[in-house]
Amino acid sequence: MITIVGTGRVGGSIAFHLALRELDDIMLLDIVPNLPQGEALDFAHMCATLGIDVDVRGSNDYKDMNGSDIVVVPAGFARKADMTRLDLLRKNADVIRAVGKNIAEYAPNAKVILTTNPLDVMTYLMVKATGFDRHRVMGFSGPLDTGRFKYMIAKELGVSTSSIQTMVIGEHGDSMVLMPRLTTVGGKPLTELLSQQRIGELMDASKKGGAEIIRLRGWSSSYAPGAGVAQMVESVMKDRNQVIPTSVYLQGEYGVNDLAIVVPAVLGRNGVEKVIELQLTEEERNAFDKSVQVLKGAVSQLQQ
Ligand code: 2OP
Repeated sequence: MITIVGTGRVGGSIAFHLALRELDDIMLLDIVPNLPQGEALDFAHMCATLGIDVDVRGSNDYKDMNGSDIVVVPAGFARKADMTRLDLLRKNADVIRAVGKNIAEYAPNAKVILTTNPLDVMTYLMVKATGFDRHRVMGFSGPLDTGRFKYMIAKELGVSTSSIQTMVIGEHGDSMVLMPRLTTVGGKPLTELLSQQRIGELMDASKKGGAEIIRLRGWSSSYAPGAGVAQMVESVMKDRNQVIPTSVYLQGEYGVNDLAIVVPAVLGRNGVEKVIELQLTEEERNAFDKSVQVLKGAVSQLQQ
């Protein structure tokens, strides 16, 4: 069973993509009375319409996550216009501490994938709140940030996003480190296809993609996160061992300790099977270190 804690727009989108992938039965949990039950019924009807054999149920009781293989956590307050992800820090820290405690109690063997912002700090807190081995806690954002970059490149070059390979590391936030050096289009390095200046503009537009959605429609992304989370869940459930940029609590990798940050990770049956350590150029290293400093600052703010 896969449990989703929080049935707002992101939770709904995650449930939608998970149901279509037919990975397992789904439990929707939310503290708002009747909301998860109503959502579950709509999804159950969707599955029936499609002939998909996925059982979707809703509950207001954390006990019902019992037996979950994976708990997905989109719970928390969303970013509003003019808010940075770090503004959400304190509000969402309380949510993650409470949810983490309940996961430890009612789904002690689960793997956790969370989307709550500020993502890396919440991943750190989830490791602490559950007391789980760090391999079982994964922060989602990588497929979204690389997806946005691929979208910009694909539009610029007139190719399918599926022909583009890329990577992102660092904070899921303003200091994220997109990696043009490791970006290829049909095997050809992006750096041979576009000028440094144009690549910089596309990276900038990708980084601002999330804020642009909020500016336009008044609330933050949900369809793309749902698709990306389902990709991570599938890699774990099917033991696919896909390499996915994931926020992971590091213990020495990249010279970082006691901090969660996005790095390429192999996701399989045990959660994070392996952290891949890229050889960084000096420029990438400096940019990554900046993310580390931002996140260390946020974690220490939380501890004050
Ligand atoms: C995004 O980047 C809200 O962090 C989310 O769209």
